[in-house]
Amino acid sequence: MRRRAACWYGDGMTPASLARSTPLPATEPRSITILGATGSVGLSTVDLIQREPGRYRVEAISARRNAAALAKIARDIGARIAVVADPDYYGELKDALAGSGIEAAAGEEALVEAAQRPAEWVMAAISGAVGLKPTLAAIERGATVALANKECLVCAGAFFMRRAASAGATVLPVDSEHNAVFQALGAGRREDLKRVILTASGGPFRTWSLEAIRLATPEQALRHPNWVMGPKISIDSATLMNKGLEVIEAHHLFALAPHEIDVLVHPQSVIHGMVEFRDGSVVAQMGAPDMRIPIAHCLAWPARIDGPAPRLDLAQVRELTFEPADEVRFPALALARQAMETGGAAPTVLNAADEVAVAEFIAGRIGFMAIPALVEATLDAAAGRGLMAEPASLDAALGVDHVARSIALALLPEIALKSS
Ligand SMILES: NC(=O)c1ccc[n+]([C@@H]2O[C@H](COP(=O)([O-])OP(=O)(O)OC[C@H]3O[C@@H](n4cnc5c(N)ncnc54)[C@H](OP(=O)(O)O)[C@@H]3O)[C@@H](O)[C@H]2O)c1
Repeated sequence: MRRRAACWYGDGMTPASLARSTPLPATEPRSITILGATGSVGLSTVDLIQREPGRYRVEAISARRNAAALAKIARDIGARIAVVADPDYYGELKDALAGSGIEAAAGEEALVEAAQRPAEWVMAAISGAVGLKPTLAAIERGATVALANKECLVCAGAFFMRRAASAGATVLPVDSEHNAVFQALGAGRREDLKRVILTASGGPFRTWSLEAIRLATPEQALRHPNWVMGPKISIDSATLMNKGLEVIEAHHLFALAPHEIDVLVHPQSVIHGMVEFRDGSVVAQMGAPDMRIPIAHCLAWPARIDGPAPRLDLAQVRELTFEPADEVRFPALALARQAMETGGAAPTVLNAADEVAVAEFIAGRIGFMAIPALVEATLDAAAGRGLMAEPASLDAALGVDHVARSIALALLPEIALKSS
């Protein structure tokens, strides 16, 4: 029988039964590593750790270039090693850590080695497909991985989950929607599941006309109404590509068929995800829109810890509203769904093209609607080149990612012109 990563509730083991059967030792500090410690999710994780320092021993932390911030975090939480992925920032990191006894390292290999160090729990919070290699390194040694980096599942989902299962790794979903679904799944059995529903805030342009959305600036797109997040995911939330990536993430994480995953726009971001069972029961997880809630859930799982996020006061929220997602104004969601249904390397191509398009939009070189246009054109071109075989290894996934980025870059001038 195929083993599954522990995030799945199959094989007769629900999250609730896991919770009962594997209590955490209360006295041992938990050894942890934070990949992407200087980012939005990384800093929320650091915040939780600083509130109960005796509970954790920090093995490694990483950033790309933000050496000063990384060194400060390393000193604050007593990390053993700090790694910058960009070797040009090694000197700055080393100087900033001088006299602390904390090791400094740099480069992609050093990042992978940091993930391989013996931390029991790893936060995977690097942004983008570049997070795949170090996250897999933690998976391969059977660690518990709190997975914020959804790109691991979008770019190489089938391969990633197979590796997690065979290494005996535990994948815990950090994305608030998937964390909500993970919590709600404990209420029933796989054979009784009807569908899962991922909620979406609708982003800053939810009520805008298509004409207005076309003219949206990066500043407007970066201003998310409910969540404070890094730039890439903020833009993806504005196009709804983020929800599309999350649909693909759910497909792999929970082994769901495409028709078992629905999206519902819910502007208040109070209900993060729901699971509907065959008897008509719908189980939802709620909470303030604060990433420290799902992160705290992953940090303590299967136990719970006190969380600093604002308490949910429904009397103050007063109104919870819902509406279907509009795939005309937000075509990225439909593109992601199609890529999931096509399967193979289509989601890898989709993600690569989106990373290129978002960077170009933030740099002010293309318009907002050029983002889905570039993704669509890249998917078409990649299919035309026969690039769609399922990536069966890390190298294959990274290879498709690389080629898809070059295709997207080559298509850029034409798409920029068309969408201007
Ligand atoms: N933010 C949220 O609320 C949220 C919610 C759910 C899921 N997620 C997912 O979590 C991941 C992180 O999101 P975020 O919003 O926290 O991103 P972010 O704020 O942009 O932070 C990204 C982190 O990754 C590091 N990084 C960036 N490029 C790198 C590279 N090439 N090599 C190594 N490290 C690199 C950054 O280091 P520097 O600081 O040096 O650039 C930073 O520490 C994404 O996959 C996102 O989809 C985020």
